[in-house]
Amino acid sequence: MSDAAISTKTSQQLQSGGDGFDTPRHVAIIMDGNGRWAAARGLPRVEGHRRGVEALRKTVRAASELGISVLTIFSFSSENWSRPQSEIRDLLALLRRFIRNDLADLHKSNVHVRVIGEREDLPTDIRALLEEAEDLTKHNDGLMLVVAFNYGARQEIARAARRLALEVLEGRLSADDITPDLLARHLDQPDLPDPDVIIRTSGEQRLSNFLLWQAAYSELVFVPIYWPDFDRAALEGAIAEYRRRERRFGGLIAQTGS
Ligand code: FPP
Repeated sequence: MSDAAISTKTSQQLQSGGDGFDTPRHVAIIMDGNGRWAAARGLPRVEGHRRGVEALRKTVRAASELGISVLTIFSFSSENWSRPQSEIRDLLALLRRFIRNDLADLHKSNVHVRVIGEREDLPTDIRALLEEAEDLTKHNDGLMLVVAFNYGARQEIARAARRLALEVLEGRLSADDITPDLLARHLDQPDLPDPDVIIRTSGEQRLSNFLLWQAAYSELVFVPIYWPDFDRAALEGAIAEYRRRERRFGGLIAQTGS
């Protein structure tokens, strides 16, 4: 079979989700390597981030077409504030531009946008744009795009612990009632399924404080290309790798013939 035929077949199989080909319901992505992509070309880092936004557009479109229900993207971590002021300005400007330019298209494509992370410290106009994106798209029932912005998983778990502590303090909950399930229901987006697969580009192999609680049984796929080079084929490749994994959730491999 030719490469083209294989790639078409993969695409059809992925689109057919639910018929045994196992399209992941929730894909989360650590979009890494923008700076190195730019440095390898002698370009300023911001150019890597700009190209990163283009890769994001392609990925959102591909995820919708492939029948993925939830796509979570790590856009800015709680730790990214330690970068030079000029780079932070560039990243905030790109987020503004992304929402202003792409929100109407996302809405037209039936994408439902949600945002996770700490909003209080963000500039007022960014907070307003994030709220506008959530509000405009809240009734859409296509792809759910979860934008992790000013997000850190330890901070999210601490927020959940704080919510539980308050309930105990107010007498609405006993400390003995706190279970993993209850804690999960106090995370920022308790109704979302855990990611089936977390993809990280750039060859780095770590989670960097991304979705630590939700990643307990996620498959991790590390892709050796920089984020600006990521596209539909790369997403399909990562999903094909996910499908080769055997998910056991702590149990045993399913036995056949007995
Ligand atoms: C990692 O590359 C990427 C980021 C810190 C930000 C991801 C941002 C985008 C894809 C563009 C912005 C999108 C929105 C919606 C704001 P890096 O800078 O850590 O690369 P490096 O590790 O090679 O230096």
